Parts: sequence; structure tokens; C-alpha cells
Amino acid sequence: MKMIEVKDYQEMSKRVAEYIIEKVRTSKKLNLGLATGGTPVGTYTNLIEDHKQNYTSYQDVTTFNLDEYVGLSGDDSNSYRYYMNDQLFDHIDIHKSNTYIPRGDASDMQKECLDYEKLLTEHGGIDLQILGIGSNGHIGFNEPGTSFDSNTHLVELAPSTREANARYFSSLEEVPTKAVTMGIATIMKSKEILLLISGENKSEALSQLLHGEVNESFPASVLRNHPYVTIIADKAAIAAE
Ligand code: GLP
Repeated sequence: MKMIEVKDYQEMSKRVAEYIIEKVRTSKKLNLGLATGGTPVGTYTNLIEDHKQNYTSYQDVTTFNLDEYVGLSGDDSNSYRYYMNDQLFDHIDIHKSNTYIPRGDASDMQKECLDYEKLLTEHGGIDLQILGIGSNGHIGFNEPGTSFDSNTHLVELAPSTREANARYFSSLEEVPTKAVTMGIATIMKSKEILLLISGENKSEALSQLLHGEVNESFPASVLRNHPYVTIIADKAAIAAE
């Protein structure tokens, strides 16, 4: 794993956006894996700015998101589909039909998982995956204990994850208890991975990622087995390291 140290959240967002823009501009066709949560918001803002100023086009880009809450439709303002439209897709020239996110309101969620995995394979897999990390080491919604062999699957969210994400809902009770997520094996199939880590509250996770053991009790540790991972971490996340 390679690590790039940056000053703060703003610089991380700028650097990650520049990296994505370069890929978008130089690839004939790009399968981009995207993440939600607070961490990539600044990156998406930078992509939008660049699209407005420099007309970077996303017409040949296909996106695949990591995860979605079970039980929320795409119109629900807490769904990750809504987040992606709002934070990025509505502001760039991407074809909405080329933006894939697992459906949290599918009538058959097991089938939805299988279909999503198949869709990724049929498209030839992800070229560049953007990742954030939970403070318990989760990636996507793969909580501690998830098998490294897992494909897209349904998960029960850890209480700490629901608490961390409750800031977006009116109450903790409203945070869904289940989600659908790309599995660890799905994520590991990406050709390249960019992991964004910002803020003091992520410093323990960063430290464990760099120095802890590779095992399923800390899902992100699997990334140490991937040949092409770059961590972009800011000073606050590195401080306690
Ligand atoms: C969420 C998402 C993850 C995200 C992580 C960190 O639960 N499912 O994809 O990377 O938790 O979120 P944040 O960036 O808000 O700290």
C-alpha cells in the first residue's frame, strides 16, 4: 500500500478529484467505483467544479456504488441513490442509466445481490474504486467478521455504524438496521483502490490498518493483500498514528 499525506480535508478532496479527473480524461471507457458517507463529499464538489470550468465529460464513465440501505427507495433523502444524485450525478453530464447502486427496496433482496455482482462482472469489473473507512474498519458496509470471500450480500449494521450514521437521520431509530453491500471479494477485484481517510476520529483505524494484523475482525486490513492501493490521509488522521 502506498500512502500520500495531505494537509487537511480540502487538500485530500482536491487531490482525489484531480486523480479521478485524470483517469476520466485519459480512459476511453472507465468503470468507477464510488462511495458515500461524509468523506467523499468534498471530492464530488471538486469534480462538479471542474466539470463546470473545464468541461470534463463523464459520458463514457459507468459508476458502481458500494452499498445502499435496505428499505429505502431512491427517492428517500437518506438513501445513497439520493445522495449520489444530489452530490454528483445531477451536476455532471453522466448518463444516469450508467450509474449503478444496489436497490435497497427490491422485492427480492437476495436476487438483487446476485444481480449486482453479475452486473459488475458483465461490465468487466471496476477500474478505480474510491473507498472510505468506518472507525471499526468497515469498508462499504462490510462490518467486522465479514468473510474475505464475500460477494455482494445483505448485512446487519453494527450498532456503532448506525450511531455514526444517525447524524443524517432525525433519530437513531430511523437508521435502517440492514444494508446491501459489495462484499470484500467484490471490492478486492477492483483493479485499483483509493482509500480516503480524514480526521482525528479515523486515526485509530488508520493505525490499525497500517500496523495491525490482516484478519476479518478488521475488514479494511484485507487491502494490504491488494496490489494497487493508495491511501490518501490527512494530518489529523495521521497525527495519533
Ligand atoms: C458508511 C459507508 C461507508 C463509508 C463509511 C465512513 O457507513 N457505508 O462506505 O466509507 O461509513 O463514513 P464517513 O465517510 O461518513 O466517515
